[in-house]
Amino acid sequence: MTSSPSIVPVVLAGTRFPDRFLWGAATSAYQIEGSPLADGAGASIWHRFAHTPGRVHNGDTGDIACDHYRRAADDVALMREMGLAAYRLSIAWGRILPDGRGRVNRPGLAFYERLVDLLLASNIQPVITLYHWDLPAALEDHGGWLNPDSAAWFADYADVVVRALDDRVHLWVTLNEPWVVADGGYVRGVLAPGHTSLAEAARVAHHLLRAHAAAVDAYRASGRHQIGLVVNLEPQTPASLDERDRAAADRADAYFNRQYLDPVFLGVYPEALRTVYGDAWPHAAMEEAATIRRPIDFLGVNYYSRSVVRADPAAFPTGAGRVRQPHSAYTDMDWEVYPAGLTDILRWVRDRYGPIPLYVTENGAAFPDPPTVDGALLEDPQRVAYFRSHLQAAHAAIAAGVDLRGYFAWSLLDNFEWNYGYAKRFGIVHVDHATQRRTPKASARFYADVIRSNGESIGRDVG
Ligand code: FCB
Repeated sequence: MTSSPSIVPVVLAGTRFPDRFLWGAATSAYQIEGSPLADGAGASIWHRFAHTPGRVHNGDTGDIACDHYRRAADDVALMREMGLAAYRLSIAWGRILPDGRGRVNRPGLAFYERLVDLLLASNIQPVITLYHWDLPAALEDHGGWLNPDSAAWFADYADVVVRALDDRVHLWVTLNEPWVVADGGYVRGVLAPGHTSLAEAARVAHHLLRAHAAAVDAYRASGRHQIGLVVNLEPQTPASLDERDRAAADRADAYFNRQYLDPVFLGVYPEALRTVYGDAWPHAAMEEAATIRRPIDFLGVNYYSRSVVRADPAAFPTGAGRVRQPHSAYTDMDWEVYPAGLTDILRWVRDRYGPIPLYVTENGAAFPDPPTVDGALLEDPQRVAYFRSHLQAAHAAIAAGVDLRGYFAWSLLDNFEWNYGYAKRFGIVHVDHATQRRTPKASARFYADVIRSNGESIGRDVG
């Protein structure tokens, strides 16, 4: 496999991926672990949020989730059967530091040490995300991400974890999807901590990026391997050639995509953010953007969908409203299925920010599944089709010269989908939340074939 499209046309190259391409699946702590307060752990903002009536669909919480905290060994065995080469997990900050800072809770750390050892014993490379949205509640009581000290809190926590695990973990992620933290948690209020203030969101976004930078510095001092950031990216396509729609798409792109990557790679914030945030924009952030920029070893891209947008003054805060595509399929999240967007966004990252190694750190789809029949494989043809088309799109990016090093399916297990509770199923393995029984879906078998053939089987029917 060559990375030069001019030498090997895509059609001849098939869909074989580069040797050593990292095939994985992803989860996050609060979404699967359960036992949130076990062994001395401190509560997180998600524990609080889910226990606040009316916040999560059906009153669901992560108290049990997939009971992974107690079933980790079985879940690793499942991953081994599938042939996964890597597993992206996140660490619950409050298990390590119950108060968010200060005292280290050894049993919490021991849980992740055991998990990492189990993975390595199965030849599965652990990829660790340090923050997947579950801030210790004790820190929220001090303002959480609104407090400028949050960057230092995060770096201190990162240092504790890195010192314990860097001998065995070679790929580290600082934050998962800072845009979702700021937009969902502080603009729309649908995610923890449930605030609705554009001015707060702007400050939180900036503090998250400062925290990312501080954790990278901490890693350079004590870690020996690689650290990067994970962002969710979504192409923002204007619905027409009309200048107003194009300007709306540019604002949406600045808000959704460039707000997080421009400071990290270029040391500046996009000017368009002043229009999006208006008076809510903290002007000091513009000057501080330069302090966020520092080399990272890779970028993780979470890709689910694109947005086609038109100018719509009622669409807050960007003035860019989504336009439904009548000829497209939509997932159970009401996200358009648009595989070409994955190729486009990976190429865009390379073109705008340079040849940084990339991973697709999440990609997948929620669809309602048919009921499980004892022992039988569960058929999920829409999810199989989603993975097939997006893997082809990832391959097309490689054929176009993008340095894509790995792909992680979201998600290994049906899990707690935040404010949707257990109502949305993203797993390639079905979880019966009443019995905790795991049943692989056809998409798990499809993915196992892809891994075994290093991509060659992508175009074949699932047999
Ligand atoms: C991403 C999150 C992940 C999951 C998927 C569906 O935004 O990182 O935890 O919720 O979406």
